[in-house]
Amino acid sequence: MAEFTLPANSIVKQGQLFKAAEGVTNIKRFIVYRYDPATGENPHTDTYEVDMDSCGPMVLDGLLKIKDEMDSSLSLRRSCREGICGSCSMNIDGSNTLACTQSIGTIKGDVKVYPLPHQPVVKDLVSDLTNFYAQYASVEPWMKTDTATPPDRERLQSREDREKLDGLYECILCACCSTSCPSYWWNSDRYLGPAALLNAYRWIVDSRDEATGERLDELEDPFKLYRCHTIMNCTKVCPKGLNPAKAIAATKKLMVQRKI
Ligand code: SF4
Ligand code: F3S
Ligand code: FES
Repeated sequence: MAEFTLPANSIVKQGQLFKAAEGVTNIKRFIVYRYDPATGENPHTDTYEVDMDSCGPMVLDGLLKIKDEMDSSLSLRRSCREGICGSCSMNIDGSNTLACTQSIGTIKGDVKVYPLPHQPVVKDLVSDLTNFYAQYASVEPWMKTDTATPPDRERLQSREDREKLDGLYECILCACCSTSCPSYWWNSDRYLGPAALLNAYRWIVDSRDEATGERLDELEDPFKLYRCHTIMNCTKVCPKGLNPAKAIAATKKLMVQRKI
């Protein structure tokens, strides 16, 4: 696995220019980060002139058009193309977001596309999220109970308790938040980051879960939780409109409350 990491705004050498076909006038230039560990070469950017008269409205449409018609060597992840799977997260125009929900029309000037910042790059726009997923798994994101399940029904919760999960359960694990957090950039080996912490809180506040104390014990650590310094980039970039910073603050508050 490649161990190369590059911040999204790093200056890299300009590579090839892929020109639009003769006669095409409605052009948008895509400047795309390229890195292929198999070549042993340094990363660079390639520039693609995309014909907007035959391109869909989103950045993902542009990237797929490039891959299909101009340069099949470009690598990227995507699946649902409607903001649900979280796999097309990348850095577009200086901000982490989903390529499939980011419109080309709202970007002034060239469309600059980089992989998520401060993660190892597998190839081009594909980040290695192994550590990110391991951190998610470490918060044990499933319901834990000691009592027996009722024999005749599911474990129920009140409407009010269910509402406490709104703004939490919708996370699609795109990693936009964690990879926009400076604390996570510098300490991603020990700080869990906003995505894992939002998901930890999702289970901490679930009225059906019976491991709240154990979950809080796990987070009682100078790095795992307390490396959040309320920088708020996470909440600003979340493409689902979630608020990881609020979930982290609520977790810290619970830590204090249980000591009183
Ligand atoms: Fe993505 Fe938002 Fe979940 Fe972070 S909280 S992983 S930005 S959906
Ligand atoms: Fe980082 Fe968000 Fe905290 S950007 S420092 S996790 S408020
Ligand atoms: Fe699924 Fe973009 S392709 S979120």
